[in-house]
Amino acid sequence: MSDLLERRFLFVVGKGGVGKTTTSAAIAMAAAGRGKRVLVALCNAKERLSHLLEVPPLTEEVRTLLPGVDAVNMNPAAALREYGHMVLKVDALYRAIFENRVASTFLRGTPGIEAWSMLGKAFFHATAEEAGRPVYDLVIVDAPATGHGLEMLRVPQVICDVAPPGLLRREAQRALNFFRDPERSGVVIVTLPEEMPVAESIELRAALVDELRFPVIRLVANRVVQRLFEPAERDLFQALPSRLPAESPLESLARAGQRRSLREAVQQRSLAKLARALPEPRTELPELASPDLRRAELQALAAVFA
Ligand SMILES: Nc1ncnc2c1ncn2[C@@H]1O[C@H](COP(=O)(O)OP(=O)(O)O)[C@@H](O)[C@H]1O
Ligand SMILES: [Mg+2]
Repeated sequence: MSDLLERRFLFVVGKGGVGKTTTSAAIAMAAAGRGKRVLVALCNAKERLSHLLEVPPLTEEVRTLLPGVDAVNMNPAAALREYGHMVLKVDALYRAIFENRVASTFLRGTPGIEAWSMLGKAFFHATAEEAGRPVYDLVIVDAPATGHGLEMLRVPQVICDVAPPGLLRREAQRALNFFRDPERSGVVIVTLPEEMPVAESIELRAALVDELRFPVIRLVANRVVQRLFEPAERDLFQALPSRLPAESPLESLARAGQRRSLREAVQQRSLAKLARALPEPRTELPELASPDLRRAELQALAAVFA
């Protein structure tokens, strides 16, 4: 597991609702537990990280949530303003982009400039130093749901391809080199052990590796349930409800057994498919019983990464 926490930059990607934010928070807590200083960067999200960690809602200002864990909910306009200020060292950039009609035509017309402002900001934090040492040991980007996450990660290459030579293109190239360096960066794909999410993860991984050439370093199968039934027992439970006499008092119990055995069967098939298709090491996070995950549950998931 150690390699994951030794990176400087992680993208956590996957379909909506699979557990990207939960995973980002768990990795952040695990890294902080090792004494690392971590920044979790959300991408203009309707965020629930603050709920998970039991802190006030996140804003576009970087804030410390727990010892060692800072977070920010980036938004394109604020990120762009800051990016201009921090990276390009041009206070006027923001105005140039949003208020100066001539200059803005180009930048606003640059495909993905808003996504780039957030990625660029996250990259800036990953490389920023104070008194000769990094401000953050690890920056975790909790990416938007798959389509958007992928679109966002495509942007630096698009900028390298279309922007005229200059600061913007140089910065995008620098970021791209950093994101593609498996020593420093990595993509974590989160999935559920179910058919559709696994199929999408396989496609997502192909796009990341073959097209974008980003190092995918870990798969996370989230909400994995413990195996209660042997395959033969599963068959039995599948058939059980139909074998009970009408109005049987055991009906709901039999249905619960049927649901559970079905879930286990789907899970086993899906994990096997994942293992066949993708060579990356896999971490399994357990399904937690609590309907509302909070800090204590997160701590349990963090232990898996620690
Ligand atoms: N391991 C888990 N056990 C139980 N519930 C989980 C687990 N992981 C995530 N959830 C629940 O699933 C929902 C989506 O998780 P979240 O991390 O917000 O997904 P995403 O960021 O990918 O949209 C949340 O309601 C969360 O509480
Ligand atoms: Mg999320």
